[in-house]
Amino acid sequence: MAFEKNILCIGAGYVGGPTMAVIAAKCPQYKVVVVDVDKEKIKAWNSDHLPIYEPGLDELVEKTRNRNLFFSADNAKGIEEAEIIFVSVNTPTKTFGHGAGKAADLQYWEKTAREILAHSKSSKIVVEKSTLPVRTASAMERILNENSKSIHFEVVSNPEFLAEGTAIQDLESPDRVLIGSRESPEGIKARKAIVEIYAHWVPRERIIQSNVWSSELSKLTANAFLAQRISSINSISALCEKTEADIDEVAHAIGMDSRIGPKFLKASVGFGGSCFKKDILNLVYICDSYGLEKVARYWEAVVEINEWQESRFIQNMLENMFSTVAGKRIALFGFAFKANTGDTRESPAIYVAQGLLAEKAEVVITDPKALKNARKDLKDFKKRVIFEADPYKAAKGAHAVAVLTEWDVYRDLDYRRILKSMVQPAFLFDGRNILDHKKLFEMGYNVFAIGKAPLKHF
Ligand code: UDX
Ligand code: ADP
Repeated sequence: MAFEKNILCIGAGYVGGPTMAVIAAKCPQYKVVVVDVDKEKIKAWNSDHLPIYEPGLDELVEKTRNRNLFFSADNAKGIEEAEIIFVSVNTPTKTFGHGAGKAADLQYWEKTAREILAHSKSSKIVVEKSTLPVRTASAMERILNENSKSIHFEVVSNPEFLAEGTAIQDLESPDRVLIGSRESPEGIKARKAIVEIYAHWVPRERIIQSNVWSSELSKLTANAFLAQRISSINSISALCEKTEADIDEVAHAIGMDSRIGPKFLKASVGFGGSCFKKDILNLVYICDSYGLEKVARYWEAVVEINEWQESRFIQNMLENMFSTVAGKRIALFGFAFKANTGDTRESPAIYVAQGLLAEKAEVVITDPKALKNARKDLKDFKKRVIFEADPYKAAKGAHAVAVLTEWDVYRDLDYRRILKSMVQPAFLFDGRNILDHKKLFEMGYNVFAIGKAPLKHF
């Protein structure tokens, strides 16, 4: 069957895979090919064990794979055939040279641009899906369009706002889709071509169009604002612990102000994930490079508060467990950076585990989906960490349990049974405020939550 359009996506990661699966499902008349340099990943996408866990993704891939969705390692063929190329390769924080620790490392992105150029025989639209520093499109255009092939590339920005764990839902009914391009006739034409893809399932009023720089900057800004809300509520959680105010009550009270709104006000052990820290540091670097020192420091503080919140959590455990955790078994409930994902990138649990190991604790980690990644994250401590799928077994013989991911399964455990199997006095640190603290205290636990007065029996 001949397809109406050939779409290629370079990068089969958390963004590329689910986004293309949804496009393929919503637009059966388009051929959607996803390529990646990582051959193992492509193999996994073509198997029954997809490389990422995302609710609803398996079903979607099963429905579309080899119908109009194809995973391939043949970049050259994919590029040659496509009219529209989405690029969702990784743009991690630079670890070397100028801007190390802050700026985005654009080497994969630039390699991709050069690869597109090498294998293209016709003009194409190149869509920035990865999160990129504002003005990247200009560099890309320069690389792509200085060619002797008489072909033209139009670079369009279409940042992805999906959150992990709800990726399919976010893609199927997004708050908005943002598409930015040059305001030239070619730019507007390219923009419209991308609008037409999304218009298959997204109401037109939710498809926003802008200039390419606004689109690039909006993605960084959205993530910075979301992270800022978490750091704001977390900073107040510290004050609550000193004053007997309750952070959940404060969040509820301020969230009912329609100007503030209730979302992203959940105090926690800290935010994780591959985006927030990376994107804010990227924003900080950009502001510094434009001489906007005050703006840079303002946003940098969002990351600093997050790191402080994580270290405060460890400190609190240490102080309350009689100033030593050496040789004590501590069970960490959850290792993923949030519930419903196996992803552990920048998870606060990594930081907490490392802090406890530095204090010579015996750490036991349990998580419904993230144990494989946890093993990789803590490979340097292999001999001192136990990985246990069953939370009851993880807590057996422990001095303390710390909830680090808000998995539903941890809300409904038999905490009486767990208490009986623990060393007394038993400590419970709720880094996500998901448990019934009063009930657990009455059961016999010493309970420490975020932004709440401690409930201690001593
Ligand atoms: C984020 C953005 O939400 C998404 O739009 C963007 O495309 C990518 O980055 P993601 O990192 O998948 O998505 O997860 P998100 O739900 O934003 O959570 C990030 C972190 O903040 C998690 O560790 C989460 O547990 C934490 N969080 C979130 C809180 O601590 N409190 C909250 O109220 C909300
Ligand atoms: P994100 O969360 O932004 O989707 P991931 O790291 O999950 O990031 O995915 C990015 C993917 O891009 C990885 O699977 C990586 O192998 C792939 N990638 C990086 N560079 C290239 C390239 N030049 N060609 C194809 N794929 C690439």
